[in-house]
Amino acid sequence: MKQKNIVILISGGGSNMAAIVEASRRRDWHEKHGAQVVAVISNKAEAPGLAWAKAQGLTTFALDHKTFASREAFDASMMAQIDSFEPALVVLAGFMRILTPGFVDHFAGRLINIHPSLLPAFAGLNTHQRAIDAGCKFAGCTVHRVTSELDHGDILDQAVVPVLRGDTAESLAERVLTQEHRIFPGTVERLVAA
Ligand code: GRF
Repeated sequence: MKQKNIVILISGGGSNMAAIVEASRRRDWHEKHGAQVVAVISNKAEAPGLAWAKAQGLTTFALDHKTFASREAFDASMMAQIDSFEPALVVLAGFMRILTPGFVDHFAGRLINIHPSLLPAFAGLNTHQRAIDAGCKFAGCTVHRVTSELDHGDILDQAVVPVLRGDTAESLAERVLTQEHRIFPGTVERLVAA
């Protein structure tokens, strides 16, 4: 069976990354699909998710974008790191950097992201507050392919949650995150199983 390496990029807590790693082990993706998470890369050395991944015995890297002269230089360095793992799939899991078209093109067809809104509504930041302010009755999350247009690209899966009376951005984010942890591993598994 051809090995399908998965590289995950994070910037913070890494709960989506952890959900994917745990699902890969629990559902034995290695045995079933020849797939495994081989590396976790963060643009922030202090990202709590990086410590978690390291403690799990995963290969981890921090590449601080602030030490690079340009976005292109940062992306080129990240690209080289990622390429060394020959990934079948590169997963953006709470990776909070805009990627250059060069990076996106390089991983075309292998790059996916999770976004905490029902795209195409609320691309960009502060999605939960914006959904509350707009009076939305439902919110949710989207797993999508990454193109050079921010938060666009084919939708692979979505989950819907209600917006409840009295919700704050935090309470809504928590409800949405529970669904992210459900649909993201499911989509990754579907892609590596194909
Ligand atoms: C998630 O809501 C993700 O959709 C958004 O940032 C959050 C990251 O959470 N882009 P985590 O790092 O996976 O815990």
